[in-house]
Amino acid sequence: MSYSLLRDFGRRIRWGLVGGGLDSIIGETHRLCARLDNRLDLVAGAMSIDPEVARETAEVCLLDPDRSYADFRDMAEREAEREDGVEVVTIATPPHLHREIAELFLDRGIDVICEKPMTKTLTEAKQLSDRVSHGDRLFALTHCYTGYPMVREARALVARGAIGDVRQIECDFPSGPFMQEDPDRGSRHWRFKPEMMSKESILGEVGSHAVNMAQFVAQKKPAALSASMTILTEGRETYDDVQIAMRYPDGALGRMWLSFVAAGNEHGLSFRIHGTEGSLAWRQEQPEALWLRHTGKPAERLTRGHPDRMTPEGFHACRIREGHPEGYILAFANLYRDFADAFMARQLGTGVEGSLGHFPTVEDGVDTMRFYEAAARSNQQCGAWVDV
Ligand SMILES: NC(=O)c1ccc[n+]([C@@H]2O[C@H](COP(=O)([O-])OP(=O)(O)OC[C@H]3O[C@@H](n4cnc5c(N)ncnc54)[C@H](O)[C@@H]3O)[C@@H](O)[C@H]2O)c1
Repeated sequence: MSYSLLRDFGRRIRWGLVGGGLDSIIGETHRLCARLDNRLDLVAGAMSIDPEVARETAEVCLLDPDRSYADFRDMAEREAEREDGVEVVTIATPPHLHREIAELFLDRGIDVICEKPMTKTLTEAKQLSDRVSHGDRLFALTHCYTGYPMVREARALVARGAIGDVRQIECDFPSGPFMQEDPDRGSRHWRFKPEMMSKESILGEVGSHAVNMAQFVAQKKPAALSASMTILTEGRETYDDVQIAMRYPDGALGRMWLSFVAAGNEHGLSFRIHGTEGSLAWRQEQPEALWLRHTGKPAERLTRGHPDRMTPEGFHACRIREGHPEGYILAFANLYRDFADAFMARQLGTGVEGSLGHFPTVEDGVDTMRFYEAAARSNQQCGAWVDV
């Protein structure tokens, strides 16, 4: 790993967090991953909708109490006025708030790392994309699974023609933990309230990761899709099982299964990509192994960790020697490291060092929201094929 940018920059980046409090699922992951590579310091936050939880989270993060905010609007304003204000902010609130928060900070010259799904609607996604492309701020979307070494390796192998021309793309995200619904509607999580995102909110929660993963590895965007959605859990108001077929402009075909009710599954994200000469397969629960298969030859179990056996793009994402398991946190941290390096390179005027670095962008967010809206539309038309 290269530390030259950090050495030249000479200090850590001042980082803030909106949402992601002690009352959240994903907040702790962000705090761990941002610290891992010594490039970001958490200095301010509006980390919960509940002021007491926001205060408590700031306290355990050892924040200056003056920089723990009860309201993200207040945080944006006051941090922008400070000479030592935050330079980068992560947004880890529920998604219906992402666009407003992102714009508040971007407009004050602060770079943004945003949780997926990027926005509530495709219209909002396009508006945010316009805002980012007309400014000079960095914007990353935390499709964290693209940080795995063997996922980056798969993408590099596809690009090098290791499986020939890609013809079939399957990416599934059937998770299993949410198989009951709280009878008290008010106590349900926002994921299961149609008024928060939509009746199709599963497309943003697990779907956006699968859409981004398929596109990242296969480097193709679907042209049309047909979606069928079901509610399998009694009392639930949002779809919890989704099947989607896709067609690509070059004739390739795709398939996606998303679920919150795949009993027995834990996480569930996986892909299988078949080309004219072979296939690649990967599962998030065993992320160290990528299977490469060619007809008539023994299957190859590719593993991470050694530069002689990996592409530079895959190896760039590795941290420790082969045989020592890495995992989710290091994969997620790769996005923070690559983002921080891009930030420092820009500030130093050296151009983005490590062109091997990668983080999903605002355009990826638009693509996933375009898919989201097309899938909802198709389902409303009983699975009709619609353009993406
Ligand atoms: N990248 C991933 O793998 C991954 C995993 C889980 C969640 N997510 C995404 O992260 C986001 C948050 O998900 P979660 O599961 O942690 O949700 P959550 O409901 O568990 O937590 C949301 C957090 O945002 C805070 N919050 C809500 N409104 C706020 C406001 N107005 N101001 C400040 N804070 C506010 C809450 O208090 C809480 O701390 C979502 O967009 C979700 O899709 C991503």
